[in-house]
Amino acid sequence: MVSLSDALLWIVVIILVWQLPNRLLSKFVRRRVQVMDPPIFGRILNSSFRKSLQPPEKVLRRSGVRRGETVIDLGCGSGALTLPLAEAVGPTGLVLAIDINESLLRQLLDELSGRSDLSTRVEVIQASAHDLPLRDSSADRCIMVSSLQEIPDRSRALKEVARILREGGTLAVTEFFVDPDFPLLSTTVRLVEGAGFRVEAKEGSPWSYTVRCIKTSVDSRGINTRELPGK
Ligand SMILES: C[S@@+](CC[C@H](N)C(=O)[O-])C[C@H]1O[C@@H](n2cnc3c(N)ncnc32)[C@H](O)[C@@H]1O
Repeated sequence: MVSLSDALLWIVVIILVWQLPNRLLSKFVRRRVQVMDPPIFGRILNSSFRKSLQPPEKVLRRSGVRRGETVIDLGCGSGALTLPLAEAVGPTGLVLAIDINESLLRQLLDELSGRSDLSTRVEVIQASAHDLPLRDSSADRCIMVSSLQEIPDRSRALKEVARILREGGTLAVTEFFVDPDFPLLSTTVRLVEGAGFRVEAKEGSPWSYTVRCIKTSVDSRGINTRELPGK
């Protein structure tokens, strides 16, 4: 019989063994080069255990997704959020599921092949967040769930998101502490504000949060920065 203190100790050891090498990888490698997650990550991300810890419906509610919208799932991975998102936008909406990792996108395509009711609402695109193959102002909303910190040049990716969102469109960044790349809420706020977004809401808790922010060219002084010389 395992005592409660032994069980807690094991949980702490497992978290440290999982988090430490990944945090080091994140700090020293991911900032410099693009790292591809192995296919097993796709299975873990799409598992019912993960969904019980971080229910997709809750993430989408915090992200403010509405019916009829065109929504980008940026860094969609194996699609844990993509299918619930396709349900949430309804038959008149569209989901653009974008990721750089082909093996994870194949897992999403496999899932979609069994969902003819949803597959017509989803376009799967292999691309880097650094250079999105989308027109300016072509989307209403972009969700990034545990993906922003995996992108080597996060500022460049956020500028791309700002480019493809329409004026008044929303970016929702969700982070969860079990992710080894987990950033503090203040870090995420600094990043999105640095890319010119206005934070509209911070939902959830410090260890499981969504930052919802708006693309606007009107700054806090009420000045339209698009009209300024040099912009
Ligand atoms: C932790 S996974 C999250 C996947 C999914 N959003 C979810 O919550 O299940 C992070 C994802 O970001 C993707 N990613 C990393 N760098 C990227 C880049 N430069 N462009 C697009 N996607 C990227 C990875 O391939 C991976 O699928």
